[in-house]
Parts: sequence; C-alpha cells; structure tokens
Amino acid sequence: MSTRKKIALIGAGNIGGELAAALARRELGDIVLFDIPQKEDFAKGKALDLEQNASIEGYDASIKGTANWADCAGADVLIVTAGIPRKPGQSRNDLVATNLPIIRNVADNAKEHCPGAFVIVISNPLDAMVYEFKRRTGFPRERVVGMAGVLDSARFTLFLAREMGVSVKDVRAMVLGGHGDDMVPVLSACTINGVRVTEMVAKDKLDAIIARTRGGGGEIVKLMGTSAYYAPALSAVAMAEAYLLNQKRLLPCAAFLQGEYGYSDLYMGVPVIIGGGGLERVVEIALGDDEKQMLAKSAKSVREIVDIVRAQT
Ligand code: APR
Repeated sequence: MSTRKKIALIGAGNIGGELAAALARRELGDIVLFDIPQKEDFAKGKALDLEQNASIEGYDASIKGTANWADCAGADVLIVTAGIPRKPGQSRNDLVATNLPIIRNVADNAKEHCPGAFVIVISNPLDAMVYEFKRRTGFPRERVVGMAGVLDSARFTLFLAREMGVSVKDVRAMVLGGHGDDMVPVLSACTINGVRVTEMVAKDKLDAIIARTRGGGGEIVKLMGTSAYYAPALSAVAMAEAYLLNQKRLLPCAAFLQGEYGYSDLYMGVPVIIGGGGLERVVEIALGDDEKQMLAKSAKSVREIVDIVRAQT
C-alpha cells in the first residue's frame, strides 16, 4: 500500500502534463493523469513518457494515465484543467459554453470518487468555473480554490524585475481580483525588498507594466495559438505543495468570499493562507481607495459571468 499522497490531474493536456512533471520531480505524491475516453491512450502515453523521466531524475513517484474515474478514487489533491484553452482573439469568457458542461461533469465525478480532496481549479473562465465546482459539489470553501493570482502575480513580478533590472527574488508583488482584464495589481503592497515600487519606477512605466500584466495571458495566446502552460502549472504546484506540506503560505488565490473585502457568494482573487487545513484563512489587507474601486469593477465582471453560469441549468 502506497503511503505517498495521491494527486489526480483532471485533464492530461498541456497544463496537465507540466503539472505531472513538476509534481513528480518534487515527489509530492503518486500521480494520476486523467482524460476523456477519446484521449485515454494519449494520457497513458504521456504518463509513461513522464514516468520514464524517473530513471533520469531519480524520483520514485508513479504516474498513471487513465480515463477511469475509479483510478482517481481517494485522491488527496485534485487539480482540474479539463476544458478547452483560448485561441487567439478569444476572451476567457468565450469558453463558458464549452467548459461549463465539462466542469459540471468533473464536479459530479469528484464528489463521487474524491470526496475528501483539496481541489485546485485552473479551467477558464476561472472565477466562474471554480464557483460552479464548489456549488455543484457542496465541498467546503477550505477545500476548493482557484489558481490565478499566483500566476498573475508571477507575471507582474517578472515585468517589474525586468523594468528595474533587479532579481525577481527581491520583488514582492501581488495581483488580486478576478482572472480577467479587470484584475487588480496591488501597487500599495508592492515592494523591492521593502522599498515601495512607486519610489523606484515612474508612473507611466508602472501603468504599462500593469497593462501588460492584465493582458499577460492574451499575449501568450497570440504568440502560441494556445494558452500558457508552464507558469500556470508551476503556480498550481506552489498551491498544492503549500497544502501537502502544511506550509501556511500566503498566496493570492481565487477564494469563496463570505463577507471579506465586502463581498459574498463570489470567487475572487484575494490573499489567503494555504496549509494542511486547505484554505485556512482569507487575509484582509488595507487597500487604497483606487484599489478598492478596481476590485469593485473586477467583482462586477466576475458576478456577471457567474450569473450567466447560474442561469444555465
Ligand atoms: N474530463 C477530463 N478531461 C477533459 C474533459 C473532461 N470532461 N473534457 C476535456 N478534457 C481534457 C481535454 O481532452 C484536454 O486533454 O482537458 C484537456 C485540456 O488540455 P489542453 O487542451 O491542452 O488545455 P490546457 O492548455 O491544459 O488548458 C486547460 O486551463 O488555463 C486553462 O484556459 C485554459 O481552460 C483551459 C484549461
């Protein structure tokens, strides 16, 4: 009997493959790479390819490809990338029609086969898909989070570091709100090892960096013809690792709000503590008036797409 944790990856596409590679390398658990029956052989082949990496890298985690939900039974962590990614010219919201039935199917199976899992949703439009997953499963908010803030913050951090010519290691930057064009880069909490970024970068440069961050996903879709997968996968790995190793990390994640920041019954990116209890706490930081306004605009956009999802029975 394995004593390693079990991690089920729902969707064996681009992000699923990168997730499997990164999780195995860190030996965070045995991995199940799940996809639909039409892609079962593909999932099996990808799993085998990645498992053969073990001989070179020296890890013992197993990676199994499947189209059978029974193989995901009892998973400790579930990471959901099932669905289609964006194509050039599409917004994340354009994916609702395709990805909503998929997320509902995944939620029903997750409820049946993985009732105790900590769930990280990545499928887009993120805030609406994670909302629907929680609503459909009835899982507590501690165990259902969405991955967006870590990725958006990583993009913001990189652009700032490059602009200033400093190491990414010294940049502390956070992006909150919905995972869309209205996301909120929090300049008031953004520092270079404690020095406020607004003291080091001119306003016009900061504005350009914020605009690039907001369009960071679209920039890659335009270049590649499909959406990003390396950084999205590693962002979710950071969240899974925080849970599995009880790290109590403060990470911006899409969390189900129950009055925090003045919002309820909504998933949106906020700073949370992730540890062995899952989402252990939503951290409320002081925001400037302009940031509060941006958050309100972002919440309105998220609410609109959630309303569309709720209306589709
Ligand atoms: N159950 C499991 N897997 C499914 C299901 C389902 N019901 N429906 C589709 N899939 C699988 C597809 O067969 C495909 O292999 O999900 C996989 C998605 O992989 P990619 O098309 O490579 O997409 P990826 O780049 O991994 O992005 C997945 O994450 O960031 C978001 O916008 C992105 O919504 C997209 C998702």
